[in-house]
Amino acid sequence: MTVKAFRSAILDFVADPFSLPESDSVRYFPDGLLVVENGIVKELGAYEQLQNRYAGLETAHYPNHLILPGFIDLHIHFPQTEMMAAYGEQLLEWLEKFTFPVERKFRDKAYCDRIAPIFIDQLLRNGTTTALVLAAVFPESVEALFEESDRRNMRLIAGKVMMDRNAPDFLRDTAKSSYEESKALIEKWHNKGRSLYAVTPRFAPTSTPEQLANAGKLLEEFPDVYLHTHLSENVNEVAWVKELFPDSQSYVDVYDQFGLVGARSIFAHCVQLTEVEFDRLSEAKSTIAFCPTSNTFLGSGLFNLERAISGNIKVGLATDVGGGTSFSMFQTASEAYKITQLQRQKLSPFQAMFLATLGGARALSLENKIGNFDAGKEADFIVIDPRSTPILSLRNQAETPTTLEELSDRLFSLIIMGDDRAIQATYILGELAYQKQRSPTEYT
Ligand code: GUN
Ligand code: ZN
Repeated sequence: MTVKAFRSAILDFVADPFSLPESDSVRYFPDGLLVVENGIVKELGAYEQLQNRYAGLETAHYPNHLILPGFIDLHIHFPQTEMMAAYGEQLLEWLEKFTFPVERKFRDKAYCDRIAPIFIDQLLRNGTTTALVLAAVFPESVEALFEESDRRNMRLIAGKVMMDRNAPDFLRDTAKSSYEESKALIEKWHNKGRSLYAVTPRFAPTSTPEQLANAGKLLEEFPDVYLHTHLSENVNEVAWVKELFPDSQSYVDVYDQFGLVGARSIFAHCVQLTEVEFDRLSEAKSTIAFCPTSNTFLGSGLFNLERAISGNIKVGLATDVGGGTSFSMFQTASEAYKITQLQRQKLSPFQAMFLATLGGARALSLENKIGNFDAGKEADFIVIDPRSTPILSLRNQAETPTTLEELSDRLFSLIIMGDDRAIQATYILGELAYQKQRSPTEYT
């Protein structure tokens, strides 16, 4: 049995700051102690209160840093790691011109094996400890990804993309093969260690009705796997879905007709949703993955966060690399803030960090396992250096914030100006998984 402690300023969320005041939703210890036993949170409290009980325990001390639960990225593409910053196109043309040729490379297991550690390293250096990931159409890409995330003990959710039409030959499966391959991957990987599986039709235009029906069949056969896809991102895409599925009432209705809209369904984007569609997602308790850097980069539009939240729809934050432009959840939250500003909406620093932690965990129905530091949860967390760059150290004083107001201001500076340089260390199940060079850690 190993028990360890981590001393620093510590922040997490115990409730939703969109519906409760900060004083009831934010938990903050300016000098806190996080005690971890065998990778699981044993206790969180003020250092002063806990120090006697845990005197003599191995303690990693991070003065003037901030510990937060690990970030949760609710939608990201493993095979698009190498193709961020593809110039000049919007969604459908971008897919044809840049994305599909890159994803073709992932038919080769050796290539997948080369990129998987790079992808996981990028997540960890950005403080992301859990992600919902689309692999490629090739089962090899899922194997390589899970092998790597399992090696690092990460709680990762992923799936093989299903696509049997409107894509180049070299990227198409069939309704039957996608069913069989997905089923074999579920049987092998779902609940193996910390891995979980998501049935992943790419989006309605690249699936025949037969394939979507098979996705629904998998959800019936394996009720605790996820459904992960894209929904209503781009105006031309929405028009195309209308042409392809003339009998459906709406884009959401296409998925609904095949039993794909439920409490374990995560829909990326939702920029162009109608009122009726928002209502349906709310009723079905489905989740929206808000992908701000992608939505601005691909010119898709402004996601109506206020509408989703007021409609009681679960929302999480997502990078959508490589349509997205950064692996950093700080940069993602920064772009989310700007998108709300453009619509005269508000997204507070605490609300943004809630979406990236406990909100994401709730969106994945994983709030009993990750998302904050309640006793019994898996100890995935990050250590943030609020003065990691010259301009951030000018912006932020050395002293640790003592009030929520001061902390909120500091978080906002990290959201707007921070990136992977602000991540000092990333811990998975209480073990160091990434450490920035030249750590100022002091062991006492
Ligand atoms: N819709 C279907 N496929 C994709 C993709 O790879 N990226 C984005 N952003 N949207 C999609
Ligand atoms: Zn995507």
